[in-house]
Amino acid sequence: MSKRIAILGSTGSIGTQALDIISKSTDFDVVALSAHSNMVLLERQIQNFKPEQVTITDESSYHDFLDNNKYQIKINLGIDGLKEMISEIDVDIILIAIVGIAALEVTYYAVSKGIDIALANKESIVTGGELITSVAAKTGASILPVDSEHSAIFQCIQGCNNKEEIKNIYLTASGGPFKDYSLIELEEVTVTQALRHPNWDMGEKVTIDSATLMNKGLEVIEAKWLFNIDTDKIKVVVHPQSIIHSMVEFIDGSIISHMAMPDMRIPILYALSYPQRTQTNISLNPYHMEPLTFEHPDFRRFPCLQLAYEAINIGGTMPTALNAANEVAVQNFLMGRVSFTDIPKIIEKAMNLHLNDIIYNPSLQDILHVDRILKEMLI
Ligand SMILES: NC(=O)c1ccc[n+]([C@@H]2O[C@H](COP(=O)([O-])OP(=O)(O)OC[C@H]3O[C@@H](n4cnc5c(N)ncnc54)[C@H](OP(=O)(O)O)[C@@H]3O)[C@@H](O)[C@H]2O)c1
Repeated sequence: MSKRIAILGSTGSIGTQALDIISKSTDFDVVALSAHSNMVLLERQIQNFKPEQVTITDESSYHDFLDNNKYQIKINLGIDGLKEMISEIDVDIILIAIVGIAALEVTYYAVSKGIDIALANKESIVTGGELITSVAAKTGASILPVDSEHSAIFQCIQGCNNKEEIKNIYLTASGGPFKDYSLIELEEVTVTQALRHPNWDMGEKVTIDSATLMNKGLEVIEAKWLFNIDTDKIKVVVHPQSIIHSMVEFIDGSIISHMAMPDMRIPILYALSYPQRTQTNISLNPYHMEPLTFEHPDFRRFPCLQLAYEAINIGGTMPTALNAANEVAVQNFLMGRVSFTDIPKIIEKAMNLHLNDIIYNPSLQDILHVDRILKEMLI
């Protein structure tokens, strides 16, 4: 029987790659979709996949779409609409492919209802990791990682029943387009240059995060929550070829790594198919592989990575402050309002401002409140 799948953020990079790989298999049935503002693409997806319901999170796009709606399906509005949709449809797994903290509420809601999720969105687990993982432990909902590094780690630890056997996790990082730039050169980086990632084709926000190495910082926090592991055991290693997607070192000196082409359709499909594997025609040919290299990351030229380690080590709502400031800083960079090297400065300033207001064991409302207050202060 095919798996019933909902894809939230279906019009984005992850969402479209998920639909592409799903369309090549008879194992999946797409029952719900969500988009924010790309109504042209959403309409095409409705025609192709015939979902039972869709949700549009941007209000004006929702009204425009309803005015011209020719489909006999329920169309929901906003974050509440996302929650309503997933409570009404019968679904086996939800792919959370929305960008930013906008995914937090629906992720928490799905897991609270005991629904399995394939999690691509990082910002929800970075800000609400403690909350989401503890509620998942109560309801039994599985959180299957889609991020390629976390999917790699998840695959490397299959069969490891004792967490104490894990010595270190190595998250690999391509190093981004500016791996070898000097501090002076980084000051001159343009938006066009920053959006040109050497190995991955992704949405704008995550592409800028990859260039600043904040993406790797967010992934360190994500790994801590997904695998319940201390941050001092989570290391970052720069591996420019993006063939090894991460590695786990065990106490006996063995390292298990996961290799594949840098193609997000592989981890997406693994999360949706788990515990089975589904066939693809994407393959890595070991006879034609370039040499694989590994380096230390440079925390001085890429301070966002250091800030992420500091935020998770401080804990409470500090990762929320880090994430909120990063979302604002990246948006401002994309709009040409601040420079590339201003991004870590804005984040550091926000973290300093938040130091005396940290809330430990925050509720969902606490996280949303801190996110809103900090963004209002920074915009
Ligand atoms: N792309 C990758 O290769 C990759 C890899 C690993 C992890 N991730 C993570 O996956 C998530 C999605 O990344 P992406 O690259 O696919 O992003 P993206 O291309 O920018 O797509 C984002 C999706 O979220 C929707 N969206 C935007 N703002 C929203 C809001 N306020 N409320 C609800 N939905 C909203 C967009 O809708 P519209 O397009 O209709 O406006 C789109 O469907 C991010 O957290 C990213 O860090 C991405």
